[in-house]
Amino acid sequence: MSDESLIRLCGSGDVEPDGVIAVEAPGLPTLAVFNLDGEFFVTDDLCTHGAASLADGFVEDGQIECPLHAGRFCIRTGAPTEAPCEEPLRTYEVVRSGDDVLIRRPPQP
Ligand code: FES
Repeated sequence: MSDESLIRLCGSGDVEPDGVIAVEAPGLPTLAVFNLDGEFFVTDDLCTHGAASLADGFVEDGQIECPLHAGRFCIRTGAPTEAPCEEPLRTYEVVRSGDDVLIRRPPQP
């Protein structure tokens, strides 16, 4: 693949259905890769409410529950869905290529 804006994060088999893993990518914060029924979504791994890794949380009904204070976010949109979370999670454009899960590198601010 020649598109340099694409970053491979993992293989599709690395994330169980309704599971999440944390992945490091160069130049980006730690990311959380979610598998919702074979559809993949990527957000920042760090909860917007505090110092918690969302990859240590629980996936339920398309939402991720933070392991620290049980706040929740919509995995598809990053929107907060349960207090105390108020700030949305950053989400990334996911690209599938065969068994690879990639994201498109976001434009620099
Ligand atoms: Fe995630 Fe508080 S750190 S809800």
